[in-house]
Amino acid sequence: MSDRRDFLNEIVAAAFGIAGVGSMIVTGQYLSPNALYEPPLKFRAGAPDLYPVDSVTYITDQQVYIVHSPEGFYAVSAVCTHLGCITQWNPGDNMIECPCHGSKFQSDGRKVEGPAPIPLFLWAITLASSGDLLVNKTETVNYGQALKV
Ligand code: FES
Repeated sequence: MSDRRDFLNEIVAAAFGIAGVGSMIVTGQYLSPNALYEPPLKFRAGAPDLYPVDSVTYITDQQVYIVHSPEGFYAVSAVCTHLGCITQWNPGDNMIECPCHGSKFQSDGRKVEGPAPIPLFLWAITLASSGDLLVNKTETVNYGQALKV
């Protein structure tokens, strides 16, 4: 009789233990922030000297090309204006190309061909007091408006 009672007590204790662990997991998930972490919309891209003239440098975490043309610097969005795919710089063709539906853009963001309805966005780029390039992805600039350093 005692064996049966001990067995039932162990089963009840195990059930409470499992329920306790389960509720702790659910509580932990509830208390942890359910947030999407994105990079800041304004960022320093380093000193202008890092970018030789006629270079296109992709900043991966910001999805921005820093383009240093003879006219100056551009910060070109890498997000295709068709359906939002991430474009790729093709140095062989000297074009920014979208792998999804074939849109092509010049290095200054102007559209060359494909279904993209408008050029790539040009983000504002200035020189910070520290001497670094400062890109502001909350502000666009007109095409051909390069930062001269
Ligand atoms: Fe770039 Fe369609 S998303 S061409």
